[in-house]
Amino acid sequence: MTKTYSGRKLSARYPTDLPAWKALAQHYKSDMRHRHLRDLFARDKKRAERFSLIANDLALDYSKNHLNATTRRLLAKLAKEAGVAAAIDAMFAGDKINETESRSVLHVALRAKISDMVALETPGVREVWEVLTKMEAFVDGVQSGKVRGSTRKKITDIVNIGIGGSDLGPVMASRALRRYWHPNLRFHAVSNVDGTQLEDLKDELDPERTLFVICSKTFTTQETMVNAHAARDWIIDKLDAVAVQYHFVAASTNHEAMDDFGIRSDYRFGFWDWVGGRYSMWSAVGLSLAIVIGMDNFNRILAGGRRMDLHFRQAKLDQNMPVLLALLGIWYNNFFGAESHVILPYTNRLDRFPAYLQQMQMESSGKSVRMDGKPVRCKTGMVIWGEAGNNAQHSFMQLLHQGTRFVPADFILTDESRHAAANCRAQAQALMQGTTDADLEPYRVHEGNRPSNTIHFAALTPETLGQLIALYEHKVFVEGVVWGIDSFDQWGVELGKKLASL
Ligand code: F6P
Repeated sequence: MTKTYSGRKLSARYPTDLPAWKALAQHYKSDMRHRHLRDLFARDKKRAERFSLIANDLALDYSKNHLNATTRRLLAKLAKEAGVAAAIDAMFAGDKINETESRSVLHVALRAKISDMVALETPGVREVWEVLTKMEAFVDGVQSGKVRGSTRKKITDIVNIGIGGSDLGPVMASRALRRYWHPNLRFHAVSNVDGTQLEDLKDELDPERTLFVICSKTFTTQETMVNAHAARDWIIDKLDAVAVQYHFVAASTNHEAMDDFGIRSDYRFGFWDWVGGRYSMWSAVGLSLAIVIGMDNFNRILAGGRRMDLHFRQAKLDQNMPVLLALLGIWYNNFFGAESHVILPYTNRLDRFPAYLQQMQMESSGKSVRMDGKPVRCKTGMVIWGEAGNNAQHSFMQLLHQGTRFVPADFILTDESRHAAANCRAQAQALMQGTTDADLEPYRVHEGNRPSNTIHFAALTPETLGQLIALYEHKVFVEGVVWGIDSFDQWGVELGKKLASL
């Protein structure tokens, strides 16, 4: 029997009416509001152990949060009452959980094995492996020099043209995995519409050796089309009109528009309407990235994502890493009144990860109407911001330590740099414990009591990157389920687009 899911039905009850929500409100007032994190550690010597979790290669230390065993139990109860388990099943079954667009949400199918049986009956899902095979042949062709420019010169420069999810994913991941780049290939990206990116880039590009990858789910996005046409004009001007066929490839769901642009059929890579833009780097939108890092490494990212999917589907709610992160987000957002959440990766390789998460979380959770069309009765998505570790320390961390705002933090830490690790741990510790010396001048006092998670893994590899991205994707999904919103539409950006085109 096919499962059916209705977000409308699930959100028929406001989360604020759920017994667990009420119990959490009471627990916040009576037990947690005035309790210092230092006291929680003092009472429980095993706290760090008790409030940490391993999922595949990622370890989450969530002990420096305002929670105890009761909080965790009540938060898990909230997830249960809000129907999180059913929603997870529904997503993997291919139900149309993106109700306002009447679409399935199946970025998880892009990284699944056929034996995982992820929504195999949904149109397009069985084509995933065909597209991957086609990508592999193309990627190998560029890397080996078989795929060349119109004058038969080898390709050396890949330029991704896209915006939003069609830019941030490839850009973030190509920077994260710089050490996996093919030695003869360079990655560039053009997204903004003002023309300066392409203008500046042209000076370093040889048109005979440049391959443009146009990424656009719709192939109508104004910024991307302006840049793609400018790049095409440049190629025609420097080479000739026939060269367009050799210097442009595309990833899109809009085959007609690719025809009109002149993208030949073996240079186009499709995906499906059930892949949201901000969840699309697992699809052909990852092509530019795959070309520079190689298909094996791209497949390793997919494998990492899949491992997080398996954890997400199988782990109990209170031991489920994405679920816990989501519940802590709700705890701070809705009970402690936090307005923002800071992302602090202590590896410069993840310097664009905060920007990537900004789109993923704010486009997904920036909603004020629920699935049933009624206004929400609680705050939804927080403002997400951040910066790579030590740079952040020397710019905005002062506000986190001594300012008046309550800003939960996620530290992301690898073992690859000892200096960064020491700084990362010190920051989390300082935020949590503050100063205890009674004789300090007031301006030196750190109150502490500022919560954080630390996500730790040995090294940033394609697999761990895949796990990390999928971790946050599922976190955002779970938050949306509890709030009763559609995390997969983005109607809010449409009005501005419409007005700009008048
Ligand atoms: O305007 C927002 C948005 O639709 C994002 O969701 C998406 O990632 C981006 O625009 C780009 O869209 P496309 O891939 O269709 O060009």
